[in-house]
Amino acid sequence: MKTELIKIDSNHINIDMIKKASHYLNKGKLVAFPTETVYGLGANALDLEAFKQIFIAKGRPSDNPLIVHVATIEQILRYVKEIPKTARILANHFWPGPMTLIFESNGIIPKEVYGNLDKIGFRIPNHPIAFALLKESDLPICAPSANLSGSPSPTSAKHVLDDLNEKIDLIIDGGECKYGVESTVIDISNEDITILRPGAITLEMVKELFPNVKLMEHLNETSNETPVLTPGLKYKHYSPKAKVILVTGKNKEFKIKNYIDTSHINNYLILGAKENQKFYKDLNFKEFGSKDHLESFAHNLFKLLRSADDNSVEYLFIEEIDIDEIGLAVMNRLLRAKSEII
Ligand code: TXA
Ligand code: MG
Repeated sequence: MKTELIKIDSNHINIDMIKKASHYLNKGKLVAFPTETVYGLGANALDLEAFKQIFIAKGRPSDNPLIVHVATIEQILRYVKEIPKTARILANHFWPGPMTLIFESNGIIPKEVYGNLDKIGFRIPNHPIAFALLKESDLPICAPSANLSGSPSPTSAKHVLDDLNEKIDLIIDGGECKYGVESTVIDISNEDITILRPGAITLEMVKELFPNVKLMEHLNETSNETPVLTPGLKYKHYSPKAKVILVTGKNKEFKIKNYIDTSHINNYLILGAKENQKFYKDLNFKEFGSKDHLESFAHNLFKLLRSADDNSVEYLFIEEIDIDEIGLAVMNRLLRAKSEII
């Protein structure tokens, strides 16, 4: 299959191109598109033959549920039993935006989309191209991150092409994604609000509205046990080909030097905070982000993992960062990408 690539300027949406992409989705084709988090691989969630192709193209296990994207809350009402009050409050604050809410499904969207569970995740993205496409097609579009299963999520059209060329029909290039980590996934059961996956809508932000919000157990842990609530979490994720070594605690530079010396490594790269660069004189160092601007770590994370592979780096030492605000999402991804912690 030939993969077409079209460019759309987010500031001047070319409606003819949106119509073309929308037409593809209506015909059951796969279209990758930018969102404010990462690129998504979209298909019509009501078309069994279409969304089955997503699992095939990505090599994704069928019990890993897909998130459904829509343009309005009214659309969600067509596919869920109810929208609880707590969900409405979260929606009013954070949609359109980098948040996915999990609802009881009414069964209209086939269960195969959401891993044969009873619940289904929805998101209204805040990106002009994604929004225009969802509005134009008026379809519920299921869209996982547009990467091969197990590899880092794509934050540019090039990343999508690297993974899915000749496996999907169309890629819309809308430039780099703003946040660079996937949406915050929140489950609401009765009065309990639980963050299943941290993201740019942070624990602190949700706590301001609901002080009793919980983080799913295991979120900060490294175990591979199967969490009941999020089937997706049991799979290995975000792993580049390079061996990722997460560097923790004090004296990180000594730990790294020691590792390099004792293992006789010469093909490596260190990713660390801009403020720490001074500690790594004479070592291969690249800026991961700045402590003044935590979002920068999230924005650069997947891009740096992928570029390390492009440059055939064998060992990637990555400094841990604080788990405040979006730092929690970054550390959650790093813990799952790592091979070793020192
Ligand atoms: O930012 C994002 O969320 C991106 C963009 C494209 O919207 N999408 C994304 O999808 O990251 P994906 O498939 O890579 O990750 C979705 C994860 C699943 O692995 C699962 O952990 C959780 O969201 N999830 C989705 N539906 C769920 C459900 N019904 N119950 C529990 N967890 C669910
Ligand atoms: Mg993904």
